[in-house]
Amino acid sequence: MAIETIKWVNGVARIIDQTQLPNKLTYIDCRDVKTMWQAIKRLSVRGAPAIGAAGALGVLLGLKKFEGKDRTAFIRHVRKICDYLATSRPTAVNLFHILDRMRAVVDNDRNSDIKTLIKKLYQEAQEIFEEDRWACRQMGRHGARLIKNSSRLLTICNAGALATVDYGTAEGVMYTAKAKGKKFSVYVCETRPLLQGARLTTWELMRENIDVTLICDNMAATLMKQGKVDIVLTGADRIAANGDTANKIGTYMLAVLAKHHGIPFYVVAPKSTFDLKITSGKQIPIEQRKSEEVTCFAGAPTVPKGVKVYNPAFDVTPAFLISGIITEHGIIRPVSVSNIRRVL
Ligand code: MRU
Repeated sequence: MAIETIKWVNGVARIIDQTQLPNKLTYIDCRDVKTMWQAIKRLSVRGAPAIGAAGALGVLLGLKKFEGKDRTAFIRHVRKICDYLATSRPTAVNLFHILDRMRAVVDNDRNSDIKTLIKKLYQEAQEIFEEDRWACRQMGRHGARLIKNSSRLLTICNAGALATVDYGTAEGVMYTAKAKGKKFSVYVCETRPLLQGARLTTWELMRENIDVTLICDNMAATLMKQGKVDIVLTGADRIAANGDTANKIGTYMLAVLAKHHGIPFYVVAPKSTFDLKITSGKQIPIEQRKSEEVTCFAGAPTVPKGVKVYNPAFDVTPAFLISGIITEHGIIRPVSVSNIRRVL
């Protein structure tokens, strides 16, 4: 998998500009924390684990601005950068977990000088990247067991290499299954309004020679009724302690349809996507995005001027609709408070 979505190169955070895919594979070099904040906000870097990794590198970028020798002022500065990055997007909890980890590096250290604290922050960021890589591989390993020869999969949005440091969550399962020699095909929902499925997932899967078919989101019911889907696999942005799962808008619709048609519906997500502090999906903040994402196509308006728009970026699938959650620690099945605690 030769897609490097996000990496640190000579003091710069280099990200693939996902707004330009699939037409152009271009990179943005983020040299300061504001550029990273904007990249997260406009979805140049996106997908829950990748947003978390971007947050870690954003903190490193923010360190450059600190001048002086006062340890307390340095710690205040780090906290301020974390608070600022936390305002970029509200739903994917990975960002908040990772900013908490970066903050804890300075908060839990009573003695180190600034130079040592900076070194520790770099180490923490490196660990975050390594953990993400390991988690993707483990999720792939656990999930691939569910893919049979000639299985027909359905997915939404992009939960692949572009959404993580490594090769993805839901798509990671597909890559592992392929590596194990399984033959299967994947239907990809285009994922309105910003077409992460059509633009990003098809691009990724085609690069890996996986048999992929694009569908409009509103074709999923027909496809299932025709008996053409064996399993649904999706990513997640935040999972509550009871298993309720926020993911890209349209995921809930797929889960309802899967239940109706008796098709297994699996979420693939690392531990860093769980928010065990909240008891149910009702407490998950759902990002509302600009109306232009719905009213325009390639910059040109497609609707009458002034039309009202409702544009939530995510929805919440209740736990009872989810057959299982594939994590790096194993598959949580059935999805319940106690099983989540046990597996994680
Ligand atoms: O708005 P996006 O593109 O960041 O939404 C991303 C998703 O909903 C993904 O499915 C989710 O983050 C899982 S990524 C492994």
